[in-house]
Amino acid sequence: MRIAVTGAAGRLGGQVVRLLADRDGVDVVAMTRRPPPGGLLPPQAQAVVADYAEPAALRTALRGADTLVFVSSDGPDARMLLHHRNVVAAAAAERVAHVVALSSVDADAASPFCYAVVNRLTEDMLLGSGLPCSIARASLYTEFFEGWLTEARASGLLRLPAADGRISLVARDDVARALAALAVGEPTGRHHDITGPVSADLADIASVAAEVWETPVAYEDIPAGTYCAETAASGLDPWWLYAFSPLFASVREQRWAQVQGDYALLTGGLPLALRDVLTAHR
Ligand SMILES: NC(=O)c1ccc[n+]([C@@H]2O[C@H](COP(=O)([O-])OP(=O)(O)OC[C@H]3O[C@@H](n4cnc5c(N)ncnc54)[C@H](OP(=O)(O)O)[C@@H]3O)[C@@H](O)[C@H]2O)c1
Repeated sequence: MRIAVTGAAGRLGGQVVRLLADRDGVDVVAMTRRPPPGGLLPPQAQAVVADYAEPAALRTALRGADTLVFVSSDGPDARMLLHHRNVVAAAAAERVAHVVALSSVDADAASPFCYAVVNRLTEDMLLGSGLPCSIARASLYTEFFEGWLTEARASGLLRLPAADGRISLVARDDVARALAALAVGEPTGRHHDITGPVSADLADIASVAAEVWETPVAYEDIPAGTYCAETAASGLDPWWLYAFSPLFASVREQRWAQVQGDYALLTGGLPLALRDVLTAHR
């Protein structure tokens, strides 16, 4: 079975490649934007350069693939959608028999979060293409949220505009395990919600971090406008300010709060808790 994986030089795609490369009977094609540095990918994987912006390169990379693990693109949303259109078109042109696509639990055109809209439109595009598919809707990655926690570790305050929004943080490795499990199975034609084991508000999240790090960390809910002004003043790239602000609006709407058992059904294991991830990184 030949399985192609996009985003293979990235953290999630790279982990999917490593998981699949260890399996008997699987040939892995690792799709990267540029030639990967030596040693980044396991020797069993075949590296193929294919930028999401290059339809011909995507088709070449997917030729002969039975399955595609489609890790979503990143960056400005309109460009991301264009990338996704290119990937779906290439998979359809090469008659890939199964597309395992990464989406998010907030995949909704009515969400305030730009990537929720992109993910929903991508799911619709995929389902409309007629390609047999399985969709992994991931919650927010624990390691992604850890960026804000790490800032709070220094200041003692997790200052974010999340109100009482809850998040079912999921370890990136668990998302990789769910994608790998879907990739070796038959297309399910539906989405699977890949969440962490608990739904926690930011006060709970801060208190877990404080306990693991043995240092005070408290949550302070701040107005969205204050967050924008302070983040702009910090020098963050304007795109990420534009993206993070509506992300917290979607958190306030409880769009990342659900906990589902799909991870256990797919992998037979239990998802890692925030405490596990922070302890491993301590
Ligand atoms: N749920 C969440 O909390 C959350 C948070 C952040 C991101 N995400 C999504 O999850 C995906 C995987 O996350 P991650 O942590 O593994 O991100 P990552 O480490 O940044 O990996 C993303 C990969 O996408 C590749 N890429 C970007 N633009 C490309 C292009 N034009 N053509 C081909 N490849 C391109 C990057 O290539 P290079 O290595 O060359 O840069 C990188 O290897 C992200 O891409 C994003 O869609 C989800």
